[in-house]
Amino acid sequence: MGVFASTEDPDSTGHEQVVFCQDKQSGLKAIIGIYSTALGPALGGTRFYPYASEADALHDVLDLSRGMAYKNALAGLDLGGGKAVIWGDPEKDKSESLLRAYGRFVQSLGGRYYTACDVGTYVADMDVVARETRFVTGRSVEHGGAGDSSVLTAWGVFQGMRAAAEHVWGSPTLAGRRVGVSGLGKVGKHLTAHLIEDGASVVATDVDQRAIDWVREAYPQVDLVDDAAAMVAADIDVYAPCALGGALADDTVSVLRAKVVAGAANNQLAHPGIEKQLADRGVLYAPDYVVNAGGVIQVADEIEGFNFERAKLRATRIYDTTREILRLADAEGVPPAVAADRLAERRMAEIGRLRTIHLG
Ligand code: NAI
Repeated sequence: MGVFASTEDPDSTGHEQVVFCQDKQSGLKAIIGIYSTALGPALGGTRFYPYASEADALHDVLDLSRGMAYKNALAGLDLGGGKAVIWGDPEKDKSESLLRAYGRFVQSLGGRYYTACDVGTYVADMDVVARETRFVTGRSVEHGGAGDSSVLTAWGVFQGMRAAAEHVWGSPTLAGRRVGVSGLGKVGKHLTAHLIEDGASVVATDVDQRAIDWVREAYPQVDLVDDAAAMVAADIDVYAPCALGGALADDTVSVLRAKVVAGAANNQLAHPGIEKQLADRGVLYAPDYVVNAGGVIQVADEIEGFNFERAKLRATRIYDTTREILRLADAEGVPPAVAADRLAERRMAEIGRLRTIHLG
């Protein structure tokens, strides 16, 4: 699989730059994918994962970096889209020298790419990477960072859900609605709190007993169901996938009773075409990368020197963006996921074009 050949894949066309990084001594094997810098330096996290093959790692970084360009564009950030993968087992292969070697490669790109956390990397790892590069965000609070990004991710999901509720039921509130939260992790917990405060009744599920114990203690009024399958079949108005990707597959969509889907999980659609199946069944799907952008808004703010209130204000605008996407979807007769892509592409083209104005 060649880089140029794979960039011709319809799912991942048009990457600006793909960088392979190797440091034999520390065992670092990383690929940095920069999809677009039309809006500014590319921002996206580093995934540390034991891919089955180099081709799988490449495929993932191309997909993820493209997704970040769209997410950052719709989040209203002056940042392009990129992502990196480190090929290895984070439990066994992560070391100070590996992370610092990686940081030096990020630095060598001169600010074309900013890294952050993703699956398999944590704020403490970014603190280590930051010893070699200034182009890193999502560091710990002690190191001037924004800390746990799930706070504003949950806030943004809640805003997107309010916009979806307004579109379907006429009022931007979840009061009186039954919302199913699948996954009571970092985001799911904060989201549950916002929903209860807004007057929704919450149904929840998680595979981890500690999460179940937490919700029983914190919110005894929350109803529990056994698993995600029971959740989709339950009598809920809104489904909020907040665990892993692929929550919306053919078998899920056919039994789903909710009228709205809005949740934090990345890549909720198991395959292309699910967005149309949802639309055909009258289910409003608020695209995952639109409503879960609060996290990237939080870490992006750190680049300017983190200010929680400013970042929260930006994440609150996810309500307006979701509204605009739903309006556009209706006007153009397309599913919201397609309308969101069009809006992102429009912003990348319109704002990216301004750089052709010579500044003297
Ligand atoms: P987390 O790892 O803290 O929580 C995930 C929760 O889902 C855990 O409690 C886990 O036990 C549960 N879970 C796993 N499999 C499950 C299943 N089959 N059924 C029910 N529950 C299950 O992760 P976090 O940070 O809360 O993220 C949740 C999702 O949101 C992930 O898909 C993540 O990629 C996405 N996301 C998170 C952001 C953030 O800032 N934390 C930003 C954007 C997206």
